[in-house]
Amino acid sequence: MDAVRVYAPGTASNLGPGFDCLGVAFTGKGDLVTAQRVASPGVRVLAVSDPLIPTDPARNTAAIAAAAALRRSGSPVGLELTVEKGLPLSGGMGGSAASAVAGAVAAAAVLEARLSMSDLLECALEAEAVVAGRHADNVAPSLLGGAVIVAGLDPPRVTPVRVHPAVALVLVTPDYRVETARARAVLPEAVARGEAVSQAAALARLVLGLERGDGDLIRESMVDRIAEPARRPLYPGYDEARAAAFEAGAFGVAVSGAGPTLIALAHWGIAASVGQAMVEGYRRIGLAAVAHPAEVDTAGARVLA
Ligand code: HSE
Repeated sequence: MDAVRVYAPGTASNLGPGFDCLGVAFTGKGDLVTAQRVASPGVRVLAVSDPLIPTDPARNTAAIAAAAALRRSGSPVGLELTVEKGLPLSGGMGGSAASAVAGAVAAAAVLEARLSMSDLLECALEAEAVVAGRHADNVAPSLLGGAVIVAGLDPPRVTPVRVHPAVALVLVTPDYRVETARARAVLPEAVARGEAVSQAAALARLVLGLERGDGDLIRESMVDRIAEPARRPLYPGYDEARAAAFEAGAFGVAVSGAGPTLIALAHWGIAASVGQAMVEGYRRIGLAAVAHPAEVDTAGARVLA
């Protein structure tokens, strides 16, 4: 094969108390990267579907990750990439991570390089670090699928979390952007001991709630005491959409990653109506929004035929 096309799913990270360490892949939206093997060395970006995405390989996450995979493979050839975005830029749906993962997986596949999951994760993480910071709570679930806890980065240590099939993921994206770098700039440098203890307890209970499909446990535990309080002013309409989600019967609501997309967890039978209610919540204060009810994408990044 001289060319390979790879899909990597979008992801929601944090889910409230899992700031920088919990993420989940969702169905229905992701990024595609095609890698073509060529004789001249190095990585070039031939085309991107969105003019706002840099084609400079030093600033394009798919290219940075593909270059890392190329280096690890030891191959003397080069790669030409095409990037098709299904995920919004600066939207909080793991767009930079999905492109990075798809770039790394496509490069490894077209080079027939024997890179482990851990190698691929490090390649994607290298790219994510350049544009969004060195955290793997988006790249890990996009690569592996499902929900995962990231326990460490050097080397990456990742533990899968089972999500009960009754739990649906409802992503709602308002019509504005939040740069991850801006959202990270407002994070607190230190956290009070009491808050750290409460966050740890909430994350433990959320993981149990996800595994059991226990709506009450999810509702009580899906609260972030570290990032969301500091970031709240960046998300107009959050309070209105959140209230609407609970009124429609959602288990819990949090900012997806650095936002502005929100993620609600709900019983699958009401996922669409929770999404509509949240869109209506935004609309009431004059903001357009789109809902994406989804399931957990358990497959992760995959080579397409
Ligand atoms: N966990 C990260 C954050 C995800 O909230 O900043 C953004 O890429």
